[in-house]
Amino acid sequence: MSEQKKILRALAGETLDTPPIWMMRQAGRYLPEYRATRAQAGDFLSLCYNSELAAEVTMQPIRRYGFDAAILFADILLLPQALGADLWFVTGEGPRLSTTTTADQLAALTGGDAIHEVLNPIYDTVRRVKRDLPKETTLIGFAGAPWTVATYMIAGRGTKDQGPAHALKAENRAVFEGLIELLTTSTVDYLSAQIEAGAEVVKLFDSWAGSLKGEDFDKYALAPAKYIISELKKRHPGIPVIAFPREAGDKYIGFAKATGADCVAVDDSVTAEWAAEHVQVDGCVQGNLKSSHMVTGGQALVDETRRIVEAFRNGPHIFNLGHGITPDADPENVQLMIDTVRGC
Ligand code: CP3
Repeated sequence: MSEQKKILRALAGETLDTPPIWMMRQAGRYLPEYRATRAQAGDFLSLCYNSELAAEVTMQPIRRYGFDAAILFADILLLPQALGADLWFVTGEGPRLSTTTTADQLAALTGGDAIHEVLNPIYDTVRRVKRDLPKETTLIGFAGAPWTVATYMIAGRGTKDQGPAHALKAENRAVFEGLIELLTTSTVDYLSAQIEAGAEVVKLFDSWAGSLKGEDFDKYALAPAKYIISELKKRHPGIPVIAFPREAGDKYIGFAKATGADCVAVDDSVTAEWAAEHVQVDGCVQGNLKSSHMVTGGQALVDETRRIVEAFRNGPHIFNLGHGITPDADPENVQLMIDTVRGC
């Protein structure tokens, strides 16, 4: 039974002797085998849309490390592309998109079933990985949360402070809210299709949630997450959802209850001890080792890993980093982290 998988047990609220483990951005440039497959595909987007190669890179960290979960190899910015935005990646800089800041630009985007025409290869990747995964490994699908995706669509690129999105929110709330709305409903359709293709868990990445304060957080991070999760639960009862409102700080408190998320992933701006007291009381928590330990390694990595496992020991916990692993990480440090968690 799939319920035997450790990740699913933790997501159902079970406290395990040893936490299951996976890692954000576990398929990525720190792995030589990823760099080789990416070179074969050409650029990053070609890799995302090549189901065979995307499935291959999804499997690479599973083969090398035996993580408890595989995460679909794709990107949160494929959804804007499926809605009709232009998307490209500039090497060494990051994503670029055609901007959505006016009513006309918003009206030119198309949600509904049309998105699947672009996203079908992603569902094929899910099917391939599901077929090839070891039986104890859980397959996680994902999407960006509406606010985070909107910050890229409004600015046309990544930004440090999400300034353009905050400006649109202040200056043209109708367009801003229309975009959030379109992303919210489309994200339900996108995640639903991933689940139908075989994703056993889905994760909602709100990487820039921390820049929404007070009421804005409730309206544009919490409410969309709540809507997406409740719709998914209607369509796919029993599929767990992990929410990641990164750098939410105090807003992590009660987030699972308020949104219906089965698990809240916490970043490393809060301590594991704080998260155990304030977040894990409501259910499963995922996190939260600083990614820089994957670069520096050594005794500090071992000590911090043990501290986190210890802090979360009395409740359901999935061990992970606080954010994605970086390209300069040493693959041997990842092994050291896993050995430490499994030896705790
Ligand atoms: O975690 C995984 O292994 C699954 C795949 C995955 C990627 N991106 C692959 C990727 C996931 C879950 C994401 C999510 C994502 N993408 C987020 C949210 C999570 C986070 O990190 O905060 C965001 C904000 C993006 C948008 C994005 N994609 C940016 C800003 C960049 C450029 C920055 C960078 O790291 O180069 C990407 C590119 C990207 N997405 C890469 C990978 C492996 C690197 C691409 C390459 O090979 O050159």
